[in-house]
Amino acid sequence: MLLHIRQVLTRDELRSARAILDRAAWADGRVTAGAQSALAKKNEQLDQEGEAAKALRPIVMQGLNRNADFFSAALPKRVFPPLFNRYGGAANAFGNHVDNAVRFLPGTVGERVRTDISCTLFLAEPDEYDGGELVIEDTFGPQRVKLPAGDMVLYPGTSVHRVDPVTRGHRVASFFWVESMVRSDEQRRLLYEMDRHLMHLRGTVGEADPGVIGLTGTYHNLLRAWADM
Ligand code: NI
Repeated sequence: MLLHIRQVLTRDELRSARAILDRAAWADGRVTAGAQSALAKKNEQLDQEGEAAKALRPIVMQGLNRNADFFSAALPKRVFPPLFNRYGGAANAFGNHVDNAVRFLPGTVGERVRTDISCTLFLAEPDEYDGGELVIEDTFGPQRVKLPAGDMVLYPGTSVHRVDPVTRGHRVASFFWVESMVRSDEQRRLLYEMDRHLMHLRGTVGEADPGVIGLTGTYHNLLRAWADM
């Protein structure tokens, strides 16, 4: 499932994040790439352990933690600490690749995150740069994604994807992965759709409607059956 989540960050959070990003020191993005994707990767990243990344991460996590749509769609078990990248100038693209299935959590003794869901949170406005679309190969064909600053896209970690060359300005984003309580993309999609329909029904027929109560039970029973904790 490919999902656009709007306004994950507020205007104030975005301003704070940009103030940090605009004075941060950027390094070669190949430090977090596997051998194969390093060949395709031409961008810049913030040092994961640097002051800028440390100051930015809580801003992103705060946005995620209050976002009901993110929770409903991702059903997160673990979120990889958000990383930050920049495309522009000579480091302006990332060719087709698949993200590594498993990533080690920095600062732990071998704890791992299975990358069920890939996330990109856009931190530059679309009119600040040309190109730089995130292109995700999907069963419906390639999906080209370029979102307003503060908005985020979720897509299956299994997808082949790329970032097209930035030909003017800089594209700044946060990217990270989610290990979901529900491993199957298909099951997560069913739960997400059911949750949305239930929210609609609560608004129209009310919380106390026997059908709403029954379907809420079915939602939770499916989650109980499919979730692995
Ligand atoms: Ni990737």
